[in-house]
Amino acid sequence: MTLEHHANPTAKIAIITGGSRGIGRSTVLNLAKRGVHSIFTYHSNQAQANEVVGLVTQAGAKAIALQLDTAQAGLFDGFAQQVQASLRELGASRFDYLVNNAGTSSNSSFANTTEAELDALFAVHFKGVFLLTQRLVPLMHDGGRIVNISSGLARFAMPNRAAYGSIKAAVESLTRYMAVELAPRRIAANVIAPGAIATDFSGGVVRDNAEVNKLVASNTALGRVGLPEDVGPVIAGLLSNEFSWINAQRIEVAGGVHI
Ligand SMILES: NC(=O)c1ccc[n+]([C@@H]2O[C@H](COP(=O)([O-])OP(=O)(O)OC[C@H]3O[C@@H](n4cnc5c(N)ncnc54)[C@H](OP(=O)(O)O)[C@@H]3O)[C@@H](O)[C@H]2O)c1
Repeated sequence: MTLEHHANPTAKIAIITGGSRGIGRSTVLNLAKRGVHSIFTYHSNQAQANEVVGLVTQAGAKAIALQLDTAQAGLFDGFAQQVQASLRELGASRFDYLVNNAGTSSNSSFANTTEAELDALFAVHFKGVFLLTQRLVPLMHDGGRIVNISSGLARFAMPNRAAYGSIKAAVESLTRYMAVELAPRRIAANVIAPGAIATDFSGGVVRDNAEVNKLVASNTALGRVGLPEDVGPVIAGLLSNEFSWINAQRIEVAGGVHI
């Protein structure tokens, strides 16, 4: 995807994984409202990625969509080269913010989780986050910001989420290590933990299964499930200058679930 206009060289640039749908899409659109350009990834849904690029352009910002499977670390060197080319297209050589959001779910009990399922979750939710960040941080400005995405399920346990919830807990720990080791470059790292959000995630179960939707709502202080628009603006806001002193924190964005 190419850009029609010359980019504003002073605008901030974010990289968001999984920006084509759900929480990532809302993040890209809310960053655009704040004048932040995005380089975002999609996995297979190019049409929805193109739609997001169109909406960002309408909002007066720039977006470039790149295909990437974040579960395949072997692709990251090539991806970093694509990022460098995209930055040049935006009139920049470095970017400002990284949001590690891409992911898929699994719905197996602890007893029935297969090694393949465990490896797949680990690859996309932990190894990909670790190694992609490692690969991209050299392209980030000093003073840049990282937001990782965890889940309420890292704090409380529910059936059939053992692998997913515990790997998300590992991402929370990794976030604190990022904050420590990237501090010499004044890079802050925080982790957002959404509650159940009505997206396509997990087969759209929170959105489409009335029973699950009701159960989540009944366990949530504010009495409903979350929407992508409950989370995207928080991530975009957290990346703004006003919140630059927040570092190494886990922020749950869940309307008060299981409190
Ligand atoms: N929804 C919830 O209830 C919930 C709750 C807590 C935490 N989260 C977390 O929030 C994040 C986003 O979830 P969501 O609900 O927005 O999901 P979603 O609506 O299913 O969207 C997932 C996004 O990630 C991309 N993606 C999936 N697998 C990928 C891979 N292997 N490589 C690269 N991109 C990939 C998808 O790209 P394509 O469009 O190309 O498929 C899509 O853009 C995830 O980390 C999830 O664990 C979600």
